[in-house]
This record gives sequence, structure tokens and C-alpha cells, in this order.
Amino acid sequence: MNRTRRLRNRNSLRRLVRENQLSVNDFIYPLFIEEGDNIDTPISSMPGINRYSIDKLSTIMDRVKEAKIPAVLLFGIPTHKDEVGSKTWNDQGVIQQAIRYIKENYPQVAVITDVCFCEYTSHGHCGVLVNEYVDNDLTLTNIQKQVLSHARAGADMVAPSGMMDGAIAGVRITLDDNGFNNMPIMGYTAKYASAFYGPFREAAESAPAFGNRKTYQMDPANGREAMLEAEYDNLEGVDILMVKPAMAYLDVVKTFKNKFNKPIAAYNVSGEYSMIKAAAANGWIDGDKVMMELLLSIKRAGADIIITYFALEAAQLINKVNYE
Ligand code: PBG
Repeated sequence: MNRTRRLRNRNSLRRLVRENQLSVNDFIYPLFIEEGDNIDTPISSMPGINRYSIDKLSTIMDRVKEAKIPAVLLFGIPTHKDEVGSKTWNDQGVIQQAIRYIKENYPQVAVITDVCFCEYTSHGHCGVLVNEYVDNDLTLTNIQKQVLSHARAGADMVAPSGMMDGAIAGVRITLDDNGFNNMPIMGYTAKYASAFYGPFREAAESAPAFGNRKTYQMDPANGREAMLEAEYDNLEGVDILMVKPAMAYLDVVKTFKNKFNKPIAAYNVSGEYSMIKAAAANGWIDGDKVMMELLLSIKRAGADIIITYFALEAAQLINKVNYE
């Protein structure tokens, strides 16, 4: 008789036949960096996650290093916003300073930068507005300026996140033409117009002042369109293809994995984090177990890389192998 339960009867056997394992090597840890001094502010909707000024970054970077997390993804919160987000390409900007600080003090950690404008524009949209519409090609020019500034500061990788058409090609050409031909690009390839970003927008002060992001981010109803985005990013020379959010879009992660031979990343976003934290705080779920199950499901779906606010907590649990 076929008995699939035979291999489930002992922890030792279950370990042997386990198909997927989480590793610290999979994780990218997002960091919110605020311009100013002496800032170490908890984000109320994301328990355990803070905004740091550069003089306080060591508190969290020491933990990243101790957990042996390979990479961080930086988001900046500037003191001054303007119509186009010009602070994003200022060599003395908060992200540029943070890159230099981390590269100098934590050389073992790769610094990836989110390349966007919503935290830097007075209107909270991800590019240049013309008649309340985000103009694709004017935004591309500014993306290139921002990327070059990050590269000059010493970033290891850039991640254009605005869902502008042609962004990957533009960034690739700019980097190559300016001596950064070795800098990889992680594309926010399939980034959906998702309600799961709510807590992030509070954290990064990046909610749009009017309207929404539906003319540039993807419709949650569409799966085949994600493949089209991936085909374009692939042809434009992206190095890593990302799907965002993760939990509600694991089908997209799986199709990317099956079709492309480039690394696939999934962004386990703020809303996914907050839901688990809130339910756990109420005693409704076991937060650690649900966290590990969710991260494992992202891996099982095919993600090679998981961008997650849980990275530090998960790293601690990963090394506690149950040997009974
Ligand atoms: C845009 C950006 C967003 C997130 C990452 N990059 C927000 C948005 O598109 O409104 C969301 C990340 C998260 O929710 O954890 N710069």
C-alpha cells in the first residue's frame, strides 16, 4: 500500500526528506534611514522596526552583522521634499551618507538602494508630475541621476522601484557609460498596486497626497502581465527579478521561477509583517511559527531571495535546529 506517512513518523526522517530550507543567506533586511540626528523612532504599525538616523544606525547594523545577513535595502526619509524629489540625487543626501557609513563600517554587508521618489516628493508620487500624471520619460531622467549618485556613494546594487517603463534599460546604460558596468540591478519587476503597503507608507511618509499608484503599479488581477514585465526587464538586462508583495502573489513567484534563469526575489512587505505582528500580539496566532511558515512558503514558491522585515528574528530561529 502507498503510505506517504512512513516518512513523517520521526523528526529525523522529516528532516531528511524536507524539500526546502530557509537560510540566512536568503534574506535582505529593509532599513528606514531618516535625515537628522539622534533618531531611533519605532514605527507604530510595524512593531520591532524603527527609523534610524545615521548616528544611530550602528544599533541595528550590529545586529544585522551578528545575524550574518548578507544585504540591506535602504529607504531614505529626507527633511525636505520638493516637486521632483531632487534630494534623491544629492551626493550629500541621507541615503548617500548611509551608503558610505555602512560600506565603511560593515563591509561584509551588501548595500542595495531602493530607487524611487515617493518619500522625496511633496505629492508622494513616484516621479515627475505633469497635470497630476506621473510622466514616464521625465522620471527616467531623474532615476538615472539618482542611480549614479548611489553608485558614486558606493552602493553594491540598485533597485528601481517606481514601475516606470524602460527603467531597467535606462539604468543599465547609465551605469555602463559611467564606469559602473559591474553594478547589478534588482528590478521591482512585478510590483502591484497593493493595499499591503499601508504600514510602509506611514513609516516612510510616502503616501500619495492625491489619487493612487494604479497608473504605474500593476493591477492585482493580472498574472500574465507580470510575465510581460519580466520579459521586458529580462531583455533590458535586469540581474534579479522581484515580485512584490510576496504572500498574495506566490503564483507570480512560481511562474517567474519556471520561466527565467535569473535569481527571483520576493518582497514580504510591510502589511504582511504587520498582520502577523498584530495577530500574535492578540494571542491569536503563534507569531514565530506563522512567520517561519510564511517565509518557507515564499521559498517553496521559488524565491531565491526574500526581502523581509522578519530577517533578524528569522535568522535567530533558523540556527535552532530541532535535534530530537
Ligand atoms: C516605493 C516603495 C513602496 C514599498 C517599497 N518601495 C511603497 C509604495 O509603492 O507605495 C513598500 C514596501 C512595503 O510595504 O514593505 N518606494
